[in-house]
Amino acid sequence: MRILIAYATIEGQTRKIVQHMRSLLEDDGHSIQLADAISGDDVPKADDFDAVIIAAPVHVGAFPAPLRRFVKAHAETLMARPGAFVSVSLSAASSDKSEVEEIADIVEKFSKETGWWPVSIHHAAGALKYTEYDFFRRWMLKRIAEKEGGPVDTSLDHEFTDWVALDAFVRTFVKEAPGVAGKI
Ligand SMILES: Cc1cc2nc3c(=O)[nH]c(=O)nc-3n(C[C@H](O)[C@H](O)[C@H](O)COP(=O)(O)O)c2cc1C
Repeated sequence: MRILIAYATIEGQTRKIVQHMRSLLEDDGHSIQLADAISGDDVPKADDFDAVIIAAPVHVGAFPAPLRRFVKAHAETLMARPGAFVSVSLSAASSDKSEVEEIADIVEKFSKETGWWPVSIHHAAGALKYTEYDFFRRWMLKRIAEKEGGPVDTSLDHEFTDWVALDAFVRTFVKEAPGVAGKI
């Protein structure tokens, strides 16, 4: 299958997730095209891909504005094929159900704004890169981590992404995508 993976990243974790999905799917025999929304990469014609995965991180309660503009601008083309959304956030790692529900609301708001509605959604936990943040970000993320019972040792980075769960999600979506094509 030809799969388009469009994404945005601010701190690099979503790019790591995208590269992981790309390797997994290429090893499974699929052909992958990447589009970086922040660099302004183009989207191929719908005839040139069979399914699309969009991946983006939550930053201060929303997905990055360039990603939202990119998806809105290409919504018609993207909607022509089955789509999956990988939402990356710290809340996805939280044991508090309301935190995860909050992210689900952010995803719904994103779809309403852009006109792009995925058939499958995965909430992937991201990373805390304390050692790479400036003072303000380190302070802000430490406060978020405190609220969610996460790690507050700012001398280390912390990765929460569940790679096994991500692989299972991606493989299920790709397996089922041909069956939903034409029903969207
Ligand atoms: C400035 C900043 C704001 C963030 N805001 C949120 C937030 O509102 N909710 C949340 O769950 N995670 C939040 N996060 C955590 C990110 O979603 C997480 O670090 C993710 O791995 C970032 O992905 P990226 O490296 O691709 O940018 C924030 C992270 C940063 C650095």
